[in-house]
Formats: sequence, C-alpha cells, structure tokens
Amino acid sequence: GSVGPLSGRHIVVTAGPTHEPIDPVRVIANRSSGKQGFAIAGALAALGARVTLVAGPVALATPTGVIRQDVTTAQEMAEAVDAALPADAAVMVAAVADWRVEPATQKLKKRSGPPPLEWQPNPDILADLAADPRRPRLLVGFAAETHDVLAEAAAKRDRKGADWIVANDVSGDVMGGEDNQVHLVTADGTESWPAASKAEVGRLLADRIADAIKDQ
Ligand code: C5P
Repeated sequence: GSVGPLSGRHIVVTAGPTHEPIDPVRVIANRSSGKQGFAIAGALAALGARVTLVAGPVALATPTGVIRQDVTTAQEMAEAVDAALPADAAVMVAAVADWRVEPATQKLKKRSGPPPLEWQPNPDILADLAADPRRPRLLVGFAAETHDVLAEAAAKRDRKGADWIVANDVSGDVMGGEDNQVHLVTADGTESWPAASKAEVGRLLADRIADAIKDQ
C-alpha cells in the first residue's frame, strides 16, 4: 500500500458473488455486482493498507494498489481467506452462496426434467473467521436485508461474532446500482449513514476502520 493511516496494516476483503456449479454450464449464484466490496478495497488501499481482495466472479477492474485473488465457489473463497491470514482487519462483503450441490460432470439434459438437487451447506466464512484463533482484531460483516434491516443486522452481529455489521436495505435498486444507503451496527449501537455513492460509502468505512485499528 501507499503511505497513509493504514500503512503497515493488512486487510482482507471479500467481494462479489460465489458461483456454485450444478453442471458444466449451470451455476447457483447470489446477486452481487461486487461494486461495494471493490470500492471498500480501493479506499483501504488509498489509506495505505496492504489489501487482499478475494473476489468472486465479477467484471470489475482491480482497484489501484489492491492484490486481487479471483475465486469461483464459496469453498475456494474460504480457502483464499484462510491463506491470506494473518490480517489486522477483514471486511466480508461477498454475497456467498449458502448452499452448494455436488455438480454433475456432464450437462444435465432439459428433456430429463428438473434435476433433483441435493443441497449441502457452504462454510460461513465470516462466522468461521470470528471463531478462528487468527481472527483479525476488527471483523466487519455485511447484511443485505429486505425487511427489519436493523434488527436483522444486530442479530447477525451477535450470531456471527463480527465486531461491526454494515446493513443495507436491498428491497430497492441497490443491487448493481451506484448508490448505497447503509447502517453501521457496532457494540455501541447503530448509525444510519446518508445515501451516497458506493465509492463514498467505501471511503467512509475505510476512514472508520483506520480510526478503529490505529492504536492496536
Ligand atoms: O448470513 P448472511 O449471508 O446474511 O451474512 C452476511 C455476511 O456473512 C456477509 O458479511 C457475508 O460476506 C458473510 N458470509 C460469509 N460466508 C457465508 C455467508 C455469508 O462470509 N457462507
């Protein structure tokens, strides 16, 4: 990273969706453009951090100063996060698929009818990192919710063992859009930030992270 308040810090960011193959041509995916996670990674690097960006399949340019590692599945994302440790902070922005199936080795035929899918849970990368002996000192999760946004985010913070949850209401057109309106849920309570570009939300969050880990 460059010179700045996060010089000498290593921060891991996950972004984008994961794709879980069903067969060689089909996947299960979450909707995520990766824009918010990439903006956060770029903003952290601009403050001097060494940033490892573990990115699911997205069509976005790598932000300046960021070390990017592309992955496809949740399991690959979990392995890449693990390999990137230790880190001073982690910001898990990725929309990870909660389940996967054992992929068929050959393309499933439409004429055979809808395939029965046997679901298996994927690792929860955020929750696993929270319970890891190498847990970063500051662990930030995201919560995309369509209802009861604040209550869901506060519950998620407890359940997952994150320090902060950045919550956003995705009942509107946040997905793939340029703007975002988020709430920062910490141990001290909740702050609602004004609607802003994803770039600006990234800068605000990077500033807060720099402030939170400056005395560690
Ligand atoms: O449980 P939910 O998916 O709503 O939680 C969202 C938060 O957890 C995000 O920070 C997301 O990146 C993270 N997550 C994860 N691994 C999963 C599922 C979610 O890291 N398998």
